[in-house]
Amino acid sequence: NISTTYCFFGSNKYTPKKMSEAKGHVLFFPYPLQGHINPMIQLAKRLSKKGLAITIIIASKDHREPYISEDYSITVHTIHDGFFPDEHPHAKFVDLDRFNNSTSRSLTDFISSAKLSDNPPKALIYDPFMPFALDIAKDLNLYVVAYFTQPWLASLVYYHINEGAYDVPVDRHENPTLASFPGFPLLSQDDLPSFACEKGSYPLLHDFVVRQFSNLLQADCILCNTFDQLEPKVVKWMNDKWPVKNIGPVVPSKFLDNRLPEDKDYELENSKTEPDESVLKWLGNRPAKSVVYVAFGTLVSLSEKQMKETAMAIRQTGYHFLWSVRESERSKLPPGFIEEAEEKNYGLVAKWVPQLEVLAHKSIGCFVSHCGWNSTLEALCLGVPMVGMPQWTDQPTNAKFIEDVWKIGVRVRTDGEGLASKEEIARCVVEVMEGERGKEMRKNVEKLKVLAREAISEGGSSDKNIDEFVALLT
Ligand code: UDX
Repeated sequence: NISTTYCFFGSNKYTPKKMSEAKGHVLFFPYPLQGHINPMIQLAKRLSKKGLAITIIIASKDHREPYISEDYSITVHTIHDGFFPDEHPHAKFVDLDRFNNSTSRSLTDFISSAKLSDNPPKALIYDPFMPFALDIAKDLNLYVVAYFTQPWLASLVYYHINEGAYDVPVDRHENPTLASFPGFPLLSQDDLPSFACEKGSYPLLHDFVVRQFSNLLQADCILCNTFDQLEPKVVKWMNDKWPVKNIGPVVPSKFLDNRLPEDKDYELENSKTEPDESVLKWLGNRPAKSVVYVAFGTLVSLSEKQMKETAMAIRQTGYHFLWSVRESERSKLPPGFIEEAEEKNYGLVAKWVPQLEVLAHKSIGCFVSHCGWNSTLEALCLGVPMVGMPQWTDQPTNAKFIEDVWKIGVRVRTDGEGLASKEEIARCVVEVMEGERGKEMRKNVEKLKVLAREAISEGGSSDKNIDEFVALLT
């Protein structure tokens, strides 16, 4: 399970031996959510292989011992985020002031202490979801790097809101306009990130994502988990304004350039656990491109009605399917659905699957996804066309690009309540699996797969950006 990667805590006086031998020491400060931590870990691995010493700092309510990864010589520390161990893990997203104030103090203490060590840090790479980290690092004379783990597609919308250049409508239905952003196709209200659709719909989260840009221009460098060829128009617009370097996709190396042979998943160690054989064995018995893979990431929770519609749609298409359903979501499936699928051997419902191994498997024909950024990058790196069922945050905008810009998938349409019917989902799955457009999508995603590999391989645009970045710090 990927969550094992960040369960570490410890005294900030700890300095691993290898660190003093390394070229330079860089601190990473990810936003404490798995979808944000994983792309930080992946960049940390790449930088560590280029000779930098890395410390990853995780804000947490739980006290953990420090952890050193043997494979990458990366150290992980946790600092206190101001919450009590028995508080709900989501309390930090609600009581933002407490999170920001306490974490700011802990981070200041941590960096001040690290600066007294044998190999004082030169830079802080932080997630712009926590703009206070930039101010702290500047005050402590570090080179400050903002690293967007979410795509520009959503972030640039937030930037324009922060600048006052885009006004979020009061009622998304009353005055539907098409929103225009540099390098983007026109966006309908349904294509915008959910926090930017309607004033007041997510007041806390709206302020939170817009605030990323409050001090961004003071950053010495800006990184993003994407690659130049994927969003060329957006990248051109940004390059004229900001010191941006796209360094992605930071999908594990085994599935891209294979230059870091031990980098097979998002773990910090050379994985001891082999991928779940039962899932891969099940896939192994299916013909090429015959299976529909369904997964909605680590956070999305579909309504019971939507889960049932999705289940019936998949069943109705008659394709074999593999569906990753978290424990908390399983009771929403129609009664007997799992048992019947397994008995008749046309479908498998698993609690968690090795998604990269699954997407890389030749039996997979399409990916029904919520279009989270990591899942989107993984699908395009592995050449799998998508059926987009975006739910919130950046997912609708990602789905717009998947369907209309990259043309590597279709997006299911929903009714006024946001529900996608079984007929609509089934229509989209069939279209991707065997429709004429599906064939085009497969060709397009194959092209992007090649471009993604080129970008991160030796001499590619992201590889060069990583090298230039390392040179700045050594
Ligand atoms: C969150 C937001 O929801 C998303 O919109 C944003 O872009 C990133 O942060 P999450 O919902 O977890 O992310 O989705 P996603 O970004 O797609 O990441 C899910 C990760 O879990 C992927 O790396 C995927 O490979 C992995 N996964 C998922 C598995 O390995 N196995 C599974 O069974 C399901």
